Amino acid sequence: MERVIGLVNKLQQICTSLGDNALSPQSILWSKLPTIVVVGGQSSGKSSVLEAVVGRDFLPRGTGIVTRRPLVLQLVKTDDPNAPDYGEFAHAPGRKITNFDAISKEIEEETERHLGKVGGAGKVVSPDPIYLTVYSTNVPNLTLVDMPGLTKVPIDGQPPSIVQELDDMARQYIKSDNAIILAVTPANADLATSDALRMARDVDPSGDRTLGVLTKVDIMDRGTDCRDVLLGKTLKLKHGWIAVVNRGQADLNSKVSMKDARAREREFFQSKPEYQDLKNTGTTFLADKLSAHLINEIMKSLPSIQSYIEGTILKLSKELTALGGDVSHSRGAMLHMTLQLCQKLERAFERIVDGGKDGGEK
Ligand code: GDP
Ligand code: NA
Ligand code: MG
Repeated sequence: MERVIGLVNKLQQICTSLGDNALSPQSILWSKLPTIVVVGGQSSGKSSVLEAVVGRDFLPRGTGIVTRRPLVLQLVKTDDPNAPDYGEFAHAPGRKITNFDAISKEIEEETERHLGKVGGAGKVVSPDPIYLTVYSTNVPNLTLVDMPGLTKVPIDGQPPSIVQELDDMARQYIKSDNAIILAVTPANADLATSDALRMARDVDPSGDRTLGVLTKVDIMDRGTDCRDVLLGKTLKLKHGWIAVVNRGQADLNSKVSMKDARAREREFFQSKPEYQDLKNTGTTFLADKLSAHLINEIMKSLPSIQSYIEGTILKLSKELTALGGDVSHSRGAMLHMTLQLCQKLERAFERIVDGGKDGGEK
């Protein structure tokens, strides 16, 4: 993620210097940056994948419908290395939560405040999102969305309309051109019935914005493996499949740490002859692949960011001229700084693009 962090930071510096409030969700920059949306069936491992990518434990996970409202997670990079990471909810502005278990708990409580308990009189799911911002020195400024799971049949006691409701909800989040779709499919179920794939193919038929993620590789039926899927022999995706192993329910219950989970995942893929020689396994690979993809997407949106920058500079120059040469120090300095930043940006892009050629994807 380092390259993404660098790139997005540079953009943010420039947009901020031009008056864009780059940390607000309404900012020009935020609206142009890609969003990562996780879709897939009930309990396919969506929340687990999202957490693994971010590298922190803070999402409620578990068997059954745990994620009942979309969670729009905005990651915001901060500069003070001594300040603790914290989360802040849109429904509780000003309350900085530094304990990530408490963040997870608040997601559950806020869900229940709106929907009641599962099995109660209320609705099981709602398209009404929970907004959470996580501030950390170690994240790129990006938005990720965790979605309730898709189903083909209504869940216990719910009206049949719920199937359609869940479908519409997911579509709404992945239809935008700047959404990157993480299509999560459990390896221990039939690929042909994957809800994630059905939807991704529907919304993104070219596959340009879709990354296939195979979860639960560790609990496939004895004697079966997903090697052929990873080799693209079963169901080909433009950007291919990535297999991951996250914590099972027993691990969650016994509070296995993220770090231990990653170590076990590595050990799992390295020790199996059917996966040893494949590179598209593990969360690190997924994160790298996602970064490369993000950089690509950000590069695509550069022309419109650039025209915003140029437009603003033009406006500022006109203002300067209108001041009749009596240029106030701060305005002159601001313009100078902006132009310098633009040059820096150009060089940063060159480095990133060149770095990407030998580093990342094939
Ligand atoms: P979601 O409903 O799609 O968000 O899925 P969750 O992330 O909540 O996970 C659902 C259940 O599957 C939980 O009990 C997880 O512990 C378990 N799970 C998720 N990923 C894996 C995996 O890779 N391997 C195993 N064994 N269990 C997993
Ligand atoms: Na679940
Ligand atoms: Mg979930």
